[in-house]
Amino acid sequence: MSGRVPPGDFAGTSPHWLREPTDVNALVPALWSSTARKADGVLHVGGLAVPDLVADVNTPAYVLDEDDFRSRARAFRDAFDGYDVYYAGKAFLCTELARWVAQEGLSLDVCSNGELSVALRAGVDPARIGYHGNNKTAMELRRAVAAGVGRIIVDSSDEIERLADVAGQLGVVQGVMVRVTAGVEAHTHEFIATAHEDQKFGFSISSGAAFEAVSRVLGHAGLDLRGLHSHIGSQIFDTSGWEVAGRRVLALHARVATELGHVSPELDLGGGFGIAYTTQDDPADPAVLAEQITKIVTAECAALGIAVPHLSIEPGRAIVGPSMCTVYTVGTVKEVALDGGATRTYVSVDGGMSDNLRPALYDADYSCTLASRTSSAAPVLARVVGKHCESGDIVVKDEFLPGDVAPGDLVAVPATGAYGRSMASNYNHALRPPVVAVKDGVARVVVRRETEEDLLATDLG
Ligand code: LLP
Repeated sequence: MSGRVPPGDFAGTSPHWLREPTDVNALVPALWSSTARKADGVLHVGGLAVPDLVADVNTPAYVLDEDDFRSRARAFRDAFDGYDVYYAGKAFLCTELARWVAQEGLSLDVCSNGELSVALRAGVDPARIGYHGNNKTAMELRRAVAAGVGRIIVDSSDEIERLADVAGQLGVVQGVMVRVTAGVEAHTHEFIATAHEDQKFGFSISSGAAFEAVSRVLGHAGLDLRGLHSHIGSQIFDTSGWEVAGRRVLALHARVATELGHVSPELDLGGGFGIAYTTQDDPADPAVLAEQITKIVTAECAALGIAVPHLSIEPGRAIVGPSMCTVYTVGTVKEVALDGGATRTYVSVDGGMSDNLRPALYDADYSCTLASRTSSAAPVLARVVGKHCESGDIVVKDEFLPGDVAPGDLVAVPATGAYGRSMASNYNHALRPPVVAVKDGVARVVVRRETEEDLLATDLG
């Protein structure tokens, strides 16, 4: 098409990692859920043709591949044999998915009363729920304790006192983990790194705050210290961060045993395992992660002369991220002139930063494919954008799409399961899209699309 960047001439306009595909219609399997494939010229997920699927539910829609989710959950459970695997519900949670988590033998991490409500409604055993948060109110703590939540991860001295009061009032002994920060600079976006010193989470090990918090917990008869908790950040690929954190956390664990006479039975290493959003990312298999992390902990415990505590992890993104894709309809296509004479093809779709905030918030890269047909047109370098009133409303910053991409086409973005729906908003009064679970040729809406009535219901007029 005239005006579009000609094939093979993308130097300077495309990022260094993006290669022009030999077949622009083909999927890159590593980015998609396990049942996704192109067949009869269209994208299929869970045995269903995506155009048929969205003919019923409309777009934008999140498509959740149940088999893929369950097999990733099982892969973590089996690889981290002997650990407790807490699925981090903040990545995405709904009642049906919480049931799958329990059915696959995983525990559940929640970080708000809302997530707790979903878990309880799904029938998750409260004893297998961990409750996070840096500012839990007395009311929230009371609800969690009364529900019988197995462990509450305390994050501040105020909270320790608050929780001790609540446990006392309810006459229970509450299981507690102490969230510590190991001073690790995780190699990820600043906003999703959590174990460096200058941020809001946890108690610093190096300043002595963590040791003091542990002493404080041990001073309350209503609190049962299960162990330390460390989460170094999110979308992390290399285990060196866990290695440094593990060493520092275990040193504290050993110090608590010698100086305070308390041998904590458990240790939680958090989540943060990275996934592939584009061909830049090369995540490790859960089995490899498990082997490396277990080796780190075992070696460190041997060096310290202490028994290996019962370990747990909290993966969210690595389980649900690749299990979902988002399907949009193209509304407009526009050529925009760039410096140097090239043009970029802007493809506007019917969603955007209200259903996936990650590109705007973290400059996150995604990929996409034409889902509703094949095309023999040469690829063009496209930018898929949303329909919100900001120029940063980007869905996929750089991707090759067929040069004849046009209004009415469906575009699907893989790996949107983690923090897509869970961080979705009503910006510009957008209606948050549905989540449609697919399996063996059957689709089930597990979260329905919002309606204007939903929006107007909270606006008292
Ligand atoms: N455990 C704790 C204590 C956490 O804070 C988190 C994530 C996880 C586990 C799960 O991390 P995951 O395995 O999903 O990486 N909104 C950001 C991510 C924020 C993560 C917050 N905590 C994003 O979209 O990348």
